[in-house]
Amino acid sequence: MESPFKPNILNGKVALLTGGGSGIGYEISSQFGQHGACVAIMGRRKSVLDSAVASLRSLGIQAVGFEGDVRKQEDAKKVVESTIKHFGKLDILVNAAAGNFLVSAEDLSPNGFRTVMDIDSVGTFTMCREALKYLKKGAPGRTSSSGGSILNISATLHYTASFYQIHVSAAKAAVDALTRNLALEWGTDYDIRVNGIAPGPIGDTAGMSKLGPDEIKNSSRKEMPLYKLGEKWDIAVAALYLTSEAGKYVNGTTLVVDGGLWLSRPRP
Ligand code: HXC
Repeated sequence: MESPFKPNILNGKVALLTGGGSGIGYEISSQFGQHGACVAIMGRRKSVLDSAVASLRSLGIQAVGFEGDVRKQEDAKKVVESTIKHFGKLDILVNAAAGNFLVSAEDLSPNGFRTVMDIDSVGTFTMCREALKYLKKGAPGRTSSSGGSILNISATLHYTASFYQIHVSAAKAAVDALTRNLALEWGTDYDIRVNGIAPGPIGDTAGMSKLGPDEIKNSSRKEMPLYKLGEKWDIAVAALYLTSEAGKYVNGTTLVVDGGLWLSRPRP
C-alpha cells in the first residue's frame, strides 16, 4: 500500500528493532527503511534474521541482523553495541519481540508465566536500559537537538480480560507501565520519547495463527460489532507517526490500533 508519509521522514535515523525479522516487527523495519532509516534487527533465529535482512536489502534498505535473546542482558548489551559499531549511533528502539501461547490459568506453570514476562516485560526493560546511553540527547553520533525515541509493542488484552492469556495480559500490562514510567523519567531527564502501540488482530502474523484462528473464523459480528482484521501496514504507519517528527509532542501514550475492537459489545 502506498505510504501516506514522505519517503524521507526518517532520513539519517538509525533504528534497532527486537523481533524485527518477522511479523509486525519486520513490517515496521521495512517501513522505517523505506522512509529513510538504517535498520538493525535482533532475533533469536539466524535463518529468520538472514532472510529478513536479504529482503530488506532487496528494497534498497541499509539493514543488518544481530542474533540475540532479549531475556539475556549480555545479548541486549551486545546487540545495542553492535548496532552502534555498525551504524555509528542509535535514534529509535522498537521492542517488538514477544512470546505467546494459549493456555488456561489452571494449566499454566509458573515457569510458563515467567517465560512470557521475561520476554515481553523484562526483555523490553533490559533493551531500554541498554539503549539509554545512546538515546540521550547529545549521545555519540546523535546530531538531533532532542533525544531518541522508544516504541513498545503491546496489546489490548489487559484492558478487560482474556481467556487463556493471563501471562500475556500481565506481561503487556507491565509493558504499558514501562512506557509511561520511562516517558516520565527519561522524557524529563533526557528528552527521550517513549510510546507504545497496542495492535488489534493483525492478519498474517504468528499472533493470529497461534491465538485462535478458529475463534476468529467463527467469530460473529454480532458478538464483536467492530471486528475487522488489521494489516501489519496499519501498525507500521502508526510506528512511523510515533517515532518521526510527526509525533514530537507525543510521549507516554500507547496508541490503540485495532479499529475500535476492544470497545466492542454485543448489540442489544
Ligand atoms: C503451556 C507452555 C506452552 C504452551 C511453553 N510453555 N509453551 N505452557 N502451553 N503452549 C511453558 C513450558 O512448559 C515451560 O514451562 C515454559 O513455558 C518455557 O517453555 P520453553 O519451551 O522452554 O520456552 P522457550 O523455548 O523459551 O519458548 C518461548 C515461548 C515460545 C514463548 C514458549 O512460544 C516462543 O518463543 N514463541 C515465539 C515467539 C512468538 O510466539 N511470537 C508471537 C507473539 S504474538 P515449564 O514449567 O514446563 O518449565 C503476540 C501477540 C500478543 O505476542 C497479543 C495478542 C492479542
